[in-house]
Amino acid sequence: MSIQIPRGTQDILPGEIEKWQYIEETAREICRRYNYKEIRTPIFEHTDLFLRSVGETTDIVQKEMYTFEDRGGRSITLRPEGTAAVVRAFVENKMFGNPTQPTKLYYSGPMFRYERPQAGRFRQFVQFGVEALGSADPAVDVEVISLVMDLYRTLGLKQVTLVINSLGDSDSRTAHKEALTNHFAPRIDEFCSDCKSRLEKNPMRILDCKKDRNHELMDTAPSILDYLNDESRTYFEKVQQYLKAVNIDFEVDPGLVRGLDYYNHTAFEIMSNAEGFGAITTLCGGGRYNGLVEEIGGPNTPGIGFALSIERLLSALNAENIKLPIQSSIDCYVVTLGEKATEVSVSIVSELRNAGFSVDKDYQDKKMKAQFKAADRLQAKYVVVLGDDELARNAVNLKAMETGEQLEISIDSLIPSLLEKRSRGEL
Ligand code: HAM
Repeated sequence: MSIQIPRGTQDILPGEIEKWQYIEETAREICRRYNYKEIRTPIFEHTDLFLRSVGETTDIVQKEMYTFEDRGGRSITLRPEGTAAVVRAFVENKMFGNPTQPTKLYYSGPMFRYERPQAGRFRQFVQFGVEALGSADPAVDVEVISLVMDLYRTLGLKQVTLVINSLGDSDSRTAHKEALTNHFAPRIDEFCSDCKSRLEKNPMRILDCKKDRNHELMDTAPSILDYLNDESRTYFEKVQQYLKAVNIDFEVDPGLVRGLDYYNHTAFEIMSNAEGFGAITTLCGGGRYNGLVEEIGGPNTPGIGFALSIERLLSALNAENIKLPIQSSIDCYVVTLGEKATEVSVSIVSELRNAGFSVDKDYQDKKMKAQFKAADRLQAKYVVVLGDDELARNAVNLKAMETGEQLEISIDSLIPSLLEKRSRGEL
């Protein structure tokens, strides 16, 4: 039996990959405008990093990590998300000592979660994310949110909703935690075993339970917004004020808790409300994590970021029927007729490529008609026809595929002539 791809993963083939490249290039360009620099960290890390950052009571850590022991007996985990590794690298490379702060970073790469695969949920998926470390200014929260909204807007998405919440600082959370414990404790027997253990360790996680989400106590649970202390409330108000100042619409949802433990203050998600997007509507998630750098062994440093998956972004584009402006044509296809011409074409193709043109030729001994068909299929803008007859005259035939216009030119003037077309914007 042939070997198949593992469940929850996908091959991205030519024809589809161009969309990925277009999205990644657009994201890079937007990061350039916001002055975020790329960081690349390993695909695997010590398991402890995720236990300490993502949190031991989260679904990610409890159920979804690809963890294994390496040959040296160390516990290693394929990264389920990017923030922990970026913070580790920030601490390990003492980036907090760089003269320019905040440190503004972005990343793009595969993440791994052992989840039940379904539309929009993969076991390997690509996250694009940013992290800004070293400023507790609410304007940075809005910069990060603007960056992702800009990306969606640039790609053409319209049906997206930004939902924000505040998880407050640790004092606010302690007060809220107590209220949640009092709310759920008397009837905790009606909840799943996960929620029972969450009650003690992290009652806020109960609000994120997929099994018990319809329990009547969920709707009446105390809202974090009623437990924010003055500082946290002022912070949240500033974020909202700045969002309005840059014309970003948003909704406040006190039930938004996020699935990772490192958050405080601002938490946000961006949803697609396009019809046919599917059950999982979250395109992007992020928030502030002011204690995380310290937790990973660095100095007390505030941070905020987000991540989105390219897979869900593509589904949203699909649901909104948006075609990305992808150019897949080539400049030239060299068609040959005759043995000598076929030989000479090898060096012509090479010279054209050296001059910067995208060029292809036949390698399957096809008849001339089939070669033209191949040129058509590749959407070649020009076909260079090289026959033994033309060769005897040291010439080629240059055919513009769009107009059908043809002319014979000397081999020597082929590159200059194509360069001229390029300078006129025809290539
Ligand atoms: P997250 O909410 O776990 O946050 O994931 C962020 C995004 O990754 C989701 O909104 C979704 O687009 C995508 N995603 C998550 N799981 C899957 C999956 N199984 N298949 C496809 N896409 C998926 C984080 O990962 C945080 N590190 C975000 C962050 C950065 N917070 C601060 N900085």
